Amino acid sequence: MSDDVRKPTTTDAGIPVASDEHSLTVGPDGPIVLHDHYLIEQMANFNRERIPERQPHAKGSGAFGHFEVTEDVSQYTKAALFQPGVKTDVVMRFSTVAGERGSPDTWRDPRGFSIKFYTSEGNYDMVGNNTPVFFIRDPMKFQHFIRSQKRRADNNLRDNDMQWDFWTLSPESAHQVTWLMGDRGIPKTWRHMNGYSSHTYMWVNAQGEKFWVKYHFKTDQGVDFLAQEDADTLAGQDGDYHTRDLFNAIKGGNAPSWTLHMQIMPFADAETYRYNPFDLTKVWPHSDYPLIKVGKLVLDRNPTDNFAQIEQVAFEPNNLVPGIGLSPDKMLMGRIFAYADAHRARLGVNYKQIPVNAPQSPVNSYSKDGAMRITPVSDPVYAPNSKGGPAADGERYPTDSTWSSQGDMVRSAYTLRADDDDYGQANDLVNKVMDAAARDRLVNNVTGHLLNGVEEPVLSRAFEYWRNIDKATGDRIAANVLQERAKRG
Ligand code: HEM
Repeated sequence: MSDDVRKPTTTDAGIPVASDEHSLTVGPDGPIVLHDHYLIEQMANFNRERIPERQPHAKGSGAFGHFEVTEDVSQYTKAALFQPGVKTDVVMRFSTVAGERGSPDTWRDPRGFSIKFYTSEGNYDMVGNNTPVFFIRDPMKFQHFIRSQKRRADNNLRDNDMQWDFWTLSPESAHQVTWLMGDRGIPKTWRHMNGYSSHTYMWVNAQGEKFWVKYHFKTDQGVDFLAQEDADTLAGQDGDYHTRDLFNAIKGGNAPSWTLHMQIMPFADAETYRYNPFDLTKVWPHSDYPLIKVGKLVLDRNPTDNFAQIEQVAFEPNNLVPGIGLSPDKMLMGRIFAYADAHRARLGVNYKQIPVNAPQSPVNSYSKDGAMRITPVSDPVYAPNSKGGPAADGERYPTDSTWSSQGDMVRSAYTLRADDDDYGQANDLVNKVMDAAARDRLVNNVTGHLLNGVEEPVLSRAFEYWRNIDKATGDRIAANVLQERAKRG
């Protein structure tokens, strides 16, 4: 672009400025004057460019696209976005959990898989991971779990001893730790991994019938992974490997896609199922609840301003639309508070007015004022009113995603059922899902992890933990670690 057609630089108030290079001084060699407002504006803006990073899931990126329903699942949900043929705009963000904003994409970690659907009845957020289960089953332990994955207080280093200390004292983590230490713990790219709701949610159809459901977004690119050595090399060579891959794929017209399938459990089954179907550390066997196809998710548009559109995107599992509800999963209920609170702290109370977070459907809320409120509010500002303000329509939008519950208030684990245990599904994963080569990689990955700073008494507990998952695997890990430690002296 030639100089005469370039736009003139302005201040943030749109006032043309005289120089991009020189501050205003008293003579060419003299002091800078305080009334060089443009210089001060640039410095002040720069000093405030960073906002707090997300507590977990700080490193990530994302893109825009759409979700299109290709099948008819209206018998299970009345949600507008899941009606036949409906196409809904989405924004998605992928992430690692424990690393900071600049950390390598290829560290071993679960990957976040967050989708915001801009539906005709408000935003629906599905904030999942690339694993169908999680490490814990009570939100009381979440903060402690994340702290054990992040950095020590004294030397500010991550510490495998701290991680295994927490895991081995939390046997419910066994299933997810087996996923994490296996191939799925380092996906080849974000395009090559599945996404899961992990939690059980509720779907409600137009007749008010309820179902328990789990979401499975299966990658159309095929599941693929990075070997530990390759991931380690990449962590040094290109910390943004996954970020770059997604951006370049979309830029090159190679739009990644996922096919959504649901597992659907009739409402009444939950009461008598052989284990607690709301326990986030467990999957539902496909033989009991087969996958039912719903539609396709496509990402075909890159962000143009990563900060505005991805760093400031605010996903919140509490964004549920008519036809979709919660389940009695304690973790899920904990998350309903946590995310909106995080957004208020990180982005400010009016974060839903940031364009990427604003719904495409009308907002008729009574929220008012607060820092950075942009959207004009009009009277009346209270309800009930006789002045024509919005009125809740309980007939059209009934409180129907409910279940009954009673009992004394207690602090307790879930009531155990016949098949509730911590190790059974982890053992299935090792022996029925992994083949011999995948099991070898699992043993090597765990061995390498335990050799990196894990000491007694945690080390012996880690061997026991793996023996509880699978005796042969535990024995191999223990033998490998002890042999290597003896070699190292
Ligand atoms: C991010 C809390 C469990 C997936 C976050 C954030 C918080 C949080 C505070 C940062 C939000 C932000 O600043 O934008 C919790 C709590 C949990 C929990 C309290 C349990 C009690 C889970 C589970 C999953 C999950 C089980 C997956 C199934 C995610 C994802 C993000 C995230 C994908 C990143 C969202 C994004 O891309 O912006 N979590 N979390 N979390 N969490 Fe959780």
